[in-house]
Amino acid sequence: MYLAPDEEKMLAGENGETLQKMLELLVALGKVFGAERLVRIRSAQVSGASYKTIGEYGLAWLSSLDARAVVPAVLNPIGMPRGRWKEMGIEPVFAERQQAVIGAYERLGVNLECTCTPYYLHETSFGDHLAWSESSAVSYANSVIGARTNREGGPGALAAALVGKTPCYGLHLDKNRNPDVVIEVKSDENDWGIARYGALGYHTGKLVGNKIPYFLGITPDNDQLKALGAAMAATGAVALYHVKGVTPEARKNRFTISDLEIISIEPDEIDQIFTDIPVDAVAVGCPHCSPAELIDIARLLKGKTVTKPFYVFAAQGVIYNNSMTVNVIERSGARVYADTCMVVSPVMEQYPAIMVNSGKALAYVPDMCGAVTRVGSIEECVEVATS
Ligand code: F3S
Repeated sequence: MYLAPDEEKMLAGENGETLQKMLELLVALGKVFGAERLVRIRSAQVSGASYKTIGEYGLAWLSSLDARAVVPAVLNPIGMPRGRWKEMGIEPVFAERQQAVIGAYERLGVNLECTCTPYYLHETSFGDHLAWSESSAVSYANSVIGARTNREGGPGALAAALVGKTPCYGLHLDKNRNPDVVIEVKSDENDWGIARYGALGYHTGKLVGNKIPYFLGITPDNDQLKALGAAMAATGAVALYHVKGVTPEARKNRFTISDLEIISIEPDEIDQIFTDIPVDAVAVGCPHCSPAELIDIARLLKGKTVTKPFYVFAAQGVIYNNSMTVNVIERSGARVYADTCMVVSPVMEQYPAIMVNSGKALAYVPDMCGAVTRVGSIEECVEVATS
């Protein structure tokens, strides 16, 4: 693997031990995956931020590092909303350890915006090279924006943030971004909601594993694409997909799909993912809500009162920029929390059954929170929470 002279010096330890170790990690990754060189990145998004998932071992490793991020870097959601953890019912012992994890990242120059939707806050453009680690963010960056990132592990993304580069292999290269399989979606409805796209992704991820799907027969908007990609990354390992006429690389018509395997998906395969089991709480915002999703939730909750705990998750910056909308939601008794989500917060473990509007949450909540999980549209979520 070729290293530029300044990279050779870093590898020799001239910029300090932490950067030496971080570059060693990137070079090792590059060699495993056949990278010929490193590539500069525009930003990093670092997972491994919730104390629930990294524990004491991860905290000790972070605390041992001594360097600063040289590109914009954001954290993945943590186990609690930083400003409202008491209100959410987080135990002080957990809050104290979570605070220590955040402090360790802050010392490394990582922006404490804890979100899986960094693209709402930091400009990310077609063709940008990134080192992002949260699977739904990776999917959105590659597929919806046309940026380029592999699905980094937390340490790899952090190393890239500190060095400013990542090994150039996999989805950073044109040749690896072609579709592998065609997904022909049969439907007699034009107006699919976000939850149905999440369910489609939930189903498709199981069918395609880590292949790159090329969809026919759907015309999702960006929030629907977000739901579709997040779910495929959860039940499969899809880091990039294309939708004919919709996603940027498919719009360029540069793919030949005539030789690819075709999988047809019938409406009843999606219908059967939706159930009507009783639930104890409702949680939406997986991935974190966009401004448009917050507006939609506010419209549905306006003038109503929730009778079940209703959690809405979004990035702090999105909440701040949409405070009037958030006020409408919270007047109903629902709570809009930043920094965390239904999967990484320990608070959700108190509910035996949880309703979500996300295919990704449907995949993760059962194992991560030990809850029976039901998926429904946002209209159904509001109906269940307010009836
Ligand atoms: Fe984001 Fe948590 Fe879902 S990190 S994608 S809201 S599981």
